[in-house]
Amino acid sequence: MSDIKDTSLADKGVSRIEWALKEMPVIRGLIQQFSEKRPLEGVRISGCLHITTETANLARTLKAAGADLVLCASNPLSTQDDVAAALVEKYEVPVFAIRGESTEVYYQHVQAALDHQPQITMDDGADLVSEMHKSRTDLIANMLGGTEETTTGVIRLRAMAKDGALRFPVVAVNDAMTKHFFDNRYGTGQSALDGIIRATNILLAGKTFTIVGYGWCGRGIAMRARGHGAHVVITEVDPLRALEASMDGYRVMPLLDAARISDFIVTVTGDKHTIDQRHMEVMKDGCILANAGHFNVEINIPALEALSIDCKRPREFVDEYTFADGRTIRLLAEGRLVNLAAAEGHPSAVMDMSFANQALCVDYLNRQGRTLDNTVHNVPLDLDQEIARLKLAAMDIQIDELTTEQHRYLTSWQEGT
Ligand SMILES: NC(=O)c1ccc[n+]([C@@H]2O[C@H](COP(=O)([O-])OP(=O)(O)OC[C@H]3O[C@@H](n4cnc5c(N)ncnc54)[C@H](O)[C@@H]3O)[C@@H](O)[C@H]2O)c1
Repeated sequence: MSDIKDTSLADKGVSRIEWALKEMPVIRGLIQQFSEKRPLEGVRISGCLHITTETANLARTLKAAGADLVLCASNPLSTQDDVAAALVEKYEVPVFAIRGESTEVYYQHVQAALDHQPQITMDDGADLVSEMHKSRTDLIANMLGGTEETTTGVIRLRAMAKDGALRFPVVAVNDAMTKHFFDNRYGTGQSALDGIIRATNILLAGKTFTIVGYGWCGRGIAMRARGHGAHVVITEVDPLRALEASMDGYRVMPLLDAARISDFIVTVTGDKHTIDQRHMEVMKDGCILANAGHFNVEINIPALEALSIDCKRPREFVDEYTFADGRTIRLLAEGRLVNLAAAEGHPSAVMDMSFANQALCVDYLNRQGRTLDNTVHNVPLDLDQEIARLKLAAMDIQIDELTTEQHRYLTSWQEGT
């Protein structure tokens, strides 16, 4: 049983999935290793992830390990329908995901993935775990644990754990260094710019490009926007991050000031209504708004609608709102993750590490889940370092090793000048 758009797209999906696999050497190694050892034989797994070519390769890895896997989308606009078709038709993975599905269908699909009665969940935004705790508590007894892919999901889960509400262990894949150092920074950096450019085809050179939030994702977007010749402005609420942005060479100012001069404003905070009505009231005519944070709440879209007397769609992924004073504000991808909606999400080479973490954490939960507390756990350090080692080897990069003398020096306190 699946619910996807069109099974005839499967061949196109296979071709793109194979293309992505060429950039995923760590995942290729895991497919080989898992197909020999079959460590997940018969384990029921439900994944709520963006249905992209890279996710398909994660699915193939888990299938090679013997898992009984189903997938649903983690965002209504990120599904690649050809990939969904390939998963169902060619890789025997049931999928519940249709690009552009309504919020109602989105949650029906989450429920369908839960009907699989998972022992392990994989989330990108914590929707499976959250729905299970709200409406499907009967499934909790089966659970060995879950994994969480993104910052926003980890924040939600830590809040659940703090309230004593989390009823099985979850591993914060996002917090692995081989995940957020690369995926959030270089992945979002490249793919958010890709989405904005594909959606608008507007030159960035010489434009004022504001980024709201200088976290892992914000740093990556700032770095790449500067590479395009934009004048990059950062807005922050955290003094340390603001200071870092300033010394990285960006202008830092309150969003109310930035809104008056910006040609582009991109949100990556994981926070709500970071762009609000008061910012829209002073925005420069023609300003382009986009979001790369997890949920579509970072830009106050109801306020934008309320301020507008007209809205047109001049291009796919661009909604042009006109205010009573004649100014226009352009919103990309309905305020949803611009890199997944208007482009293809992160490049495969970074997802190689993110999804190696996912696959190894699922294996870890299968072995250790019953022994872990019902809280949010870090990815074990040895696993994180092993992924870095495998990635370096695949990139044909060698590094030095500590000598015995250096090791002794670095682990002792007696020796000084
Ligand atoms: N687009 C993608 O593919 C993708 C990939 C990874 C993460 N994410 C999502 O992007 C978001 C950010 O993730 P991150 O890893 O960069 O998180 P992070 O915690 O490293 O950074 C978020 C930053 O936003 C700042 N912030 C919060 N509220 C703010 C406000 N009102 N104004 C200005 N700054 C504010 C915080 O101080 C922090 O520095 C999360 O929702 C995460 O789930 C998206």
